[in-house]
Amino acid sequence: MSTKKHVLAFLESNRGQSISGEHIAGRLNVSRNAVWKAIKELEKEGYNIKAVTNKGYCLCENNDILSVQGMLPFLLQKEFADQILIYESLESTNKTAKEMAISGVKHGTVIMADYQTAGRGRYDRGFYSPSGCGIYMSFILRPEHLKFEIPTLITAFAAVVVCEAIEAVSEKVPSIKWVNDVFIDQKKICGILTEAVTDFESGNMQWVVVGIGINFSMRTVDFPEQLRQIAGSVFPDGGQSATRNHLAAEIINRILDTGNSCSIEEILDKYKKRLMMLGKKISVIGAGDTYEAVAIDIDNTGRLIVEKENGEIQSLFSGEISIRN
Ligand code: BTN
Repeated sequence: MSTKKHVLAFLESNRGQSISGEHIAGRLNVSRNAVWKAIKELEKEGYNIKAVTNKGYCLCENNDILSVQGMLPFLLQKEFADQILIYESLESTNKTAKEMAISGVKHGTVIMADYQTAGRGRYDRGFYSPSGCGIYMSFILRPEHLKFEIPTLITAFAAVVVCEAIEAVSEKVPSIKWVNDVFIDQKKICGILTEAVTDFESGNMQWVVVGIGINFSMRTVDFPEQLRQIAGSVFPDGGQSATRNHLAAEIINRILDTGNSCSIEEILDKYKKRLMMLGKKISVIGAGDTYEAVAIDIDNTGRLIVEKENGEIQSLFSGEISIRN
């Protein structure tokens, strides 16, 4: 790690407190001039660092630049840090993750970007991914490290993780719209896109890429006009109680750790408790037909069980639904 990164890690783990250049230099075993240079570089990158005479340097609380050093204080296992790759911009973190999965990177690699130029959602829709106010992350997971290989369940698991991570850093109580959307106050604040890389000859799943996009601190006016009615964010009115680094680290902890200790039954139970539509009238929007039904249950593969108006029961593996008023 460079001196700059060491200095940043030091400041991040002492956010809001002033620390003397001498103290930092001593702890990192570098000269005070090297610390000063690192601080100047960090300031150029946009970090707001206060230099207080006779007290030292202080990383202000309002800094929200994505970095591994900013996540470190919140990561339960410090080894996760070596698996997190952060880019300023990517077309799509899922696209890069799939390329990396094919080239053989290890299970648990996380690809993140401050913004995406071609973020993708389900059905090849775009996912609005501006800079500085969202979290765009893709996990590369190998099936042999997972308790289950069914992509719908992996998506359900990721949705539960996002809800629990948001609750860990804020007072918000998120809910889930089957299968991959997370809502707060009736507005979509997160979408999940799970894609599998399959061996062409055997048909076996080799890798799964779980892409999570969270609107973190966008205000309503920050969204394009056509999204304003439906999209929200975790902190739409300022008053952030956490940084993007903190929330991202809480998600990483849960995906890379809890995933191994949680049973399918537990995940489904947590998932169902947060579902917005069980027992409600919904419209099922298919390729050619749209029909009305009641959402009854989720089966143990994550399928949505619905009862049509004529009493016929159907289980939906994927698809789109809307909740009727
Ligand atoms: C959806 O709403 O249909 C799913 C949206 C998924 C967006 C995330 S952002 C990180 C990752 N990269 C992408 O291009 N898509 C996913």
